Amino acid sequence: GKLHMSTNAAFPPYEMVADGEGFEGTGYEGIDVEIAYAIAQKLGLELVVDDMDFTAALEAAQSGKSDMVMAGVTVNEDRLAVMDFSESYATGVQVVIVTEDSPITTLDDIEGKLIGTQKGTTGFTYASDTPENGGYGEDAVIGFDNGLSAVQALKNGQVDCVIIDNAPAQTFVAENPGLKILDTEWVTEDYAIGVAKGNTALLDAINGALDELIADGTVQSIIDTYITAE
Ligand code: ARG
Repeated sequence: GKLHMSTNAAFPPYEMVADGEGFEGTGYEGIDVEIAYAIAQKLGLELVVDDMDFTAALEAAQSGKSDMVMAGVTVNEDRLAVMDFSESYATGVQVVIVTEDSPITTLDDIEGKLIGTQKGTTGFTYASDTPENGGYGEDAVIGFDNGLSAVQALKNGQVDCVIIDNAPAQTFVAENPGLKILDTEWVTEDYAIGVAKGNTALLDAINGALDELIADGTVQSIIDTYITAE
């Protein structure tokens, strides 16, 4: 009777720990939480949000400890090898956060600098890749437990920039004066729901519900609640 969603609820506006009882009493709020709740409703299940480290959230779905991971998860080749994904319900792009007075003004200026990212994310992967592949090498990157810790390290001067998805970047910059965002040319990423590889019954059920929620505008209206169009 329950639909367990593993997540890392430190990724605003996709998933956050709520101050009060959260969305529909889940204790959490955010785009993923509301979409997951709507999917659970369609399937006649009770949504349970399980908050953990990002890597653990991915692994929980892979191993079947949770039914699905919803955590602003980008679909990529590495993950497709170990889990199955629903259709995409949102997009993101990796951006660079710097201090307002930073000498870093373009991606070229990052070379030789220290980069903060969240462990296990695509931002970490891009940043730590080899220079031939557009990265800066592993030694240039520190992986933090969550995005906010990386941003705090930037404010403290422990790192020179933070590479993270655009939506949380905007939230962190809005909440932390003295920071700004650089646009990058990294590709747009598709966010989707991950489930254990081969669990087609669950994936079909999720996709069926998601299709309806996309078609009737529910997904877009949830996104619009949290992200104001530019
Ligand atoms: N989109 C990025 C990725 O899939 C970052 C996701 C981080 N999500 C989170 N809830 N902390 O790697």
